[in-house]
Amino acid sequence: MTIRNIQDEILRLKKATNTAVLVHSYQNRDIVEIADFVGDSYKLSVDAKNVNADNILFCGVHFMAETAKILAPQKRVFLANHLAGCPMAEQMDAELIRQIKNSEPDRAVVAYVNTTAKLKAVCDVCVTSSSAVKIVKAMENDKILFIPDCNLGGFVQKNVPEKDIKLLQGGCPVHSSVTVDDLKYAKKLHPEALVLVHPECIPDVTAMADYAGSTSGIMDFAKNSDCREFIIGTEISIVEHLMFECPDKKFYPLSQKIVCRDMKLTSIMDVYNSLNGIENGEAFEIIMSDEEINASKKCIDEMIRLGG
Ligand code: 13P
Ligand code: SF4
Repeated sequence: MTIRNIQDEILRLKKATNTAVLVHSYQNRDIVEIADFVGDSYKLSVDAKNVNADNILFCGVHFMAETAKILAPQKRVFLANHLAGCPMAEQMDAELIRQIKNSEPDRAVVAYVNTTAKLKAVCDVCVTSSSAVKIVKAMENDKILFIPDCNLGGFVQKNVPEKDIKLLQGGCPVHSSVTVDDLKYAKKLHPEALVLVHPECIPDVTAMADYAGSTSGIMDFAKNSDCREFIIGTEISIVEHLMFECPDKKFYPLSQKIVCRDMKLTSIMDVYNSLNGIENGEAFEIIMSDEEINASKKCIDEMIRLGG
């Protein structure tokens, strides 16, 4: 079978099983092509809430499918590859956060959406990289604990200097692997290019960029800019998507290291096999109790209320 045949079969199975396929922008092109919804974490959370289908098949990492289940509990939600997890989502201990909350009750806990449901349950509001600055600004609280990504948290600190924002040591191993030397080298190779980075990169790298923003922020900036060349400081698939969507512009990866192995675990065959397995129990379903859903839902609802 060719990829095209598999894609055609996927389109048929989506209809037959009444399944919407939600795809994070870090997925490969062949998966993006069969998606009902494509986007960054924030957009996909809103899409999951509004989707009109019995089932959701998520192509991304575990916390994203879990967030979709929390927002659409009446739907069955599946993750295309059950091994795809985000290492950052597991970095903080819910008990430690509970202790900090008890010792500083006036400090609101803001959780990056890249967290487990268990951790979300002890947080006050969730944010994504595209909504973090806006939401922290809009919150009534002046004292914030931002978890788990201290690089995104530092970016928020810089953009919301009027608030007291405390950080803990955590972050994305993929984006934080990029060094200032990597950036200097990329600029030396492409001196005319603008540098666009994700705020999960270390502060010294973000400070040297022409623009720092979420995955969709980076894509929109590149599409709308009059500049013709860009160095892209986020997951390498974004370079490929931009090349495809803007064939008249040039895109270069900031570093070949920015490859998220977890995001890349999902293949087009996983999508096909998952759709085939929905009816016979072979697809990987996100199962959560009502108690777990209710405990973690408040901070995601708050994210959509403040970020919308
Ligand atoms: P976005 O919020 O930009 O989708 O980022 C998700 C992610 O996992 C970044 O590493
Ligand atoms: Fe997690 Fe980083 Fe991969 Fe995003 S790129 S899913 S934050 S490890």
